[in-house]
Amino acid sequence: MSQMDIGVIGMAVMGSNLALNIADHGFKVAAYNRTASVTKEVITKHPHKNMDGFYNLEDFLASLKSPRKIILMIKAGKPVDMIIEELLPHLSPEDIIIDGGNSFFEDTIRRYDYLKEKNIYYFGVGISGGEKGARLGPSIMPGGSKEAYPHIQPILEAISAHVGSEPCCTYIGDNGAGHYVKMVHNGIEYADMQLITEAYLLLRHIGGFNNQKLSQIFNEWNQGELHSYLIGITADIFAENDEKSGGQIVDKILDSAGQKGTGRWTSIQSLKQGVDISMITAACNTRVVSNLLDERKKASKEIAAPSYNAEIGADFIEEVRKSLYVAKIIAYAQGFSLYRSACHEYNWQLNFAKIASIFRAGCIIQAKFLNKITEAYKKNENLSNLMFDEFFLANINKNQSSLRKIVSLAVNKGIPIPAFSNALQYIDAHRSTQLGANLIQAQRDYFGAHTFRRTDIDGSFHHEWQEHYKK
Ligand code: 6PG
Repeated sequence: MSQMDIGVIGMAVMGSNLALNIADHGFKVAAYNRTASVTKEVITKHPHKNMDGFYNLEDFLASLKSPRKIILMIKAGKPVDMIIEELLPHLSPEDIIIDGGNSFFEDTIRRYDYLKEKNIYYFGVGISGGEKGARLGPSIMPGGSKEAYPHIQPILEAISAHVGSEPCCTYIGDNGAGHYVKMVHNGIEYADMQLITEAYLLLRHIGGFNNQKLSQIFNEWNQGELHSYLIGITADIFAENDEKSGGQIVDKILDSAGQKGTGRWTSIQSLKQGVDISMITAACNTRVVSNLLDERKKASKEIAAPSYNAEIGADFIEEVRKSLYVAKIIAYAQGFSLYRSACHEYNWQLNFAKIASIFRAGCIIQAKFLNKITEAYKKNENLSNLMFDEFFLANINKNQSSLRKIVSLAVNKGIPIPAFSNALQYIDAHRSTQLGANLIQAQRDYFGAHTFRRTDIDGSFHHEWQEHYKK
């Protein structure tokens, strides 16, 4: 009998935890994995009165109430297209497929259009919060047909994280909007992590603090305006002892970072849309450079280090904290500028205040600070850049001198801080009325007759440049 409320395909870590979370909230869940033994293991290890395992696709689909709701928790890319083709012959009009993985949003738009022709609803749903979030309440970003959303809304809202009684789940927009918002969330996550890492390098290599002290500093920061999930776990990480060979495990981890691709997608997308998200791009590039272990070893021997011996002041830790806060404002200003531009590019009506509010719990970038972003967009939904909100502007003006001090100190000491410096560059590029673009335009017109606009007369002009340099 068709009695299950929802089906989950993919019983790896995220899928099985999400399925159990749904079951915990009173919905009957059908669990399926291509390899039957994986389903068996989940059902045996985590028996749940609301969850049954199915061992072939036909039985799984036959168990679902109409319209069928099927969540895919599988690897992004080809596997998603493959499972859609497998499901299609068995589906009925108005059944709903929900892709809960980190799919590229343009793939989601393509799949949405393809399935729309077949009268099947397709949702691309960003889910953030890792394994723990999936199990206990993630932040959820659903994109797809607004008309079909009420069918899945009660389940998604019930299983999401909550702030008070507010679910960290909101309908984001049509077709690929949910996956787009998740992609940029991950880009911001990259910048956030890179900033914290740069603060660590400064505190360690200029401040000379050991792991115990670092843990204490991050713990203290986590009590104030920087309060966030990432600062909290960073404090924990420094305190974690290494059982294998003593000391702290952070010092034993190879200095080479992985990336699955969402940060890079964000960066590529920003270039396509013409939006400056230099901090996210810097974070991606720094992970890339971190992988060049041999080259870095060679360069560290062959390129001389600067000799600079500035004394650090008693307020050094506080200066780093303030710099981190200002730079974090800029990282979010960049990410939300990309959201704003996406509204025009893809014809979405993204609700920035709502997006910031569903990031307040459940997701990796959850932070106290997000309340301020929600407030800013509630006050003015047409805010062109977060930097111009009264609260953020006051903070930038109050703390930019710390960022300048910290960036120059690091530059003189040869400590790489690409995210901090890009934050400062972004501020300065915006506050400069002279960026030298007049010269760029003159050069373009000189070699390519690309024309330029003038400051004193309207219209488009070309100048017959004299080749003085040849004389
Ligand atoms: C989340 C995370 C999640 C995952 C990242 C890691 O929001 O729960 O962002 O999606 O941990 O994909 O990304 P990288 O492997 O690229 O660092």
